[in-house]
Amino acid sequence: MKISLIGAVAVSLIASGAFAEEVLPTAVAYTDGSVEQSLSGTSGDAANGRQIVGDKKQGNCVACHEVADLADVPFQGEIGPALDGAADRWSEAELRGIVANAKMMFEDSMMPSFYKTEGFIRPGNAYTGEAADDTFGPLLSAQQIEDVVAYLSTLKE
Ligand code: HEC
Repeated sequence: MKISLIGAVAVSLIASGAFAEEVLPTAVAYTDGSVEQSLSGTSGDAANGRQIVGDKKQGNCVACHEVADLADVPFQGEIGPALDGAADRWSEAELRGIVANAKMMFEDSMMPSFYKTEGFIRPGNAYTGEAADDTFGPLLSAQQIEDVVAYLSTLKE
């Protein structure tokens, strides 16, 4: 009984794509700043991406970018260009590269690298004296990046 239940859960997880091949932050292949392959192995959910872009606790993209479609979100920043029409200016692969690690597209960008776990200057572990890099995950998960890319792909003028 127990075993058949576990089997059924596993089958439904596989069917829902939960075990789709995920590209780790250290294994992302950039070509001139863009990334062709889906990081999660599945396509993104634009509605969820819209939420992440406007959410101060997740992407918080609106801290630096205005988005007319998110007019209900207060205090939008102007450090980066408005994201309206982003899909006219950039392909999906370029948008994925920009969101995963903007520094691959724009050298010295102040935009955070949302899918990166290495190369940050972070305080080491005071107790062991070792760098603490490995204890941090990326700012957004592979699927969250794909959701954001799916949303940005809807921003046409
Ligand atoms: C700390 C500020 C900051 C944050 C936060 C930020 N960005 Fe950016 N972004 C920039 C800047 C500045 C640029 C312009 C390119 C450069 O760095 O010179 C940029 C460029 C872009 C571009 C290309 C702009 C265009 O339309 O031509 C896209 C797309 C983009 N960002 C998406 C995002 C998304 C999505 C998020 C949230 C997940 C985000 N940014 C968070 C600062 C930021």
